[in-house]
Amino acid sequence: MSASQLRRATAFAPSNIALTKYWGKRDAELNLPLAASISVTLAELGSLTIVQPEPDLPEDVMLVDDRPLDDAGMVKVRRVMHAIRALAGSSVHAGLRSVNTIPPARGLASSASAFAALVVAAADAYGLALDTPTLSRLARTGSGSASRSVIGGFALWHRGTAPDGSDSFAEQLHSPDHWPLRILVAKVSDERKKVSSTTGMRMSATGSPLFTAWIDQCNRDVVDCQQALAARDMRKLAEVVEGNALAMHATMLATRPPLVYWQPATLGVIHAVRTLRGEGAECCFTIDAGSSVVVLVAAQDARPVADALAGIAGIEEIIQTSVGLGARLLDTAPRAP
Ligand code: PMV
Repeated sequence: MSASQLRRATAFAPSNIALTKYWGKRDAELNLPLAASISVTLAELGSLTIVQPEPDLPEDVMLVDDRPLDDAGMVKVRRVMHAIRALAGSSVHAGLRSVNTIPPARGLASSASAFAALVVAAADAYGLALDTPTLSRLARTGSGSASRSVIGGFALWHRGTAPDGSDSFAEQLHSPDHWPLRILVAKVSDERKKVSSTTGMRMSATGSPLFTAWIDQCNRDVVDCQQALAARDMRKLAEVVEGNALAMHATMLATRPPLVYWQPATLGVIHAVRTLRGEGAECCFTIDAGSSVVVLVAAQDARPVADALAGIAGIEEIIQTSVGLGARLLDTAPRAP
């Protein structure tokens, strides 16, 4: 593709929440997981990314929420952009801009949505019509969980066995309307700097006596979670999703030195959700590598559950969303003939 045929492209990608988690890599360079994982895609919480190929730029540059991306982030972005340019046969760098619709530090990571939006926008900007598995694989090389943000509804990220990662991508299990759950993010304040997921995974793999059992559990949970989703069975989903999150945090807590992500309010939400479910509300919780808690709840129970969680000491705010579509192209400049 000649430089004149490149064009500006904009994409949106949603964040996603793992129902069975990715916590352990079999290849740290390619972000290949030790186990498959399942997620639900969020609706309007995510990243909007603009890719503008610029023949005069000596290298890719990126602004995230109007600030230059840090060096560690830039290494990953350039790796993804390099792969896209290689597929397109182009040597033109790009100016990149990403705006998060996830408010900063709200307990949801933005790297999954950011890399999913980046690959969808960049593929179009460089004239590539890539299929969904290829987009998912490319997003995965930026951030593992980004492989799932390409997909709408409920996604399964295959572990794969190929050393080059060719069989490790996400695909859809169900569309968003299969089970129109509400998703509540109970934001817990946490002043301390968190250990990054990449560092935390490495620490758990080498320093947690529970790590092997954790991966074995993930392999079983992925099967059970698919059954619970197919049957829209909240009791079963709660058992698998909560058990999986608690097993991941048990593995983190047992790591030496320990990874303690929880705050008192984290435990407050755990108990509240279990009590609410005992009283008949269809809901369950999960927790990523942080202190905030994500609650999946049937639409009819969303209001009372949100109100109950908002009253827990240490909860700053409850963000409400629903199950959404995957990454998509929003706007493109015309391509030169
Ligand atoms: O994709 P990463 O490197 O941000 O890792 C995500 C790790 C968890 O959020 C804790 C679990 C998951 O599967 O999303």
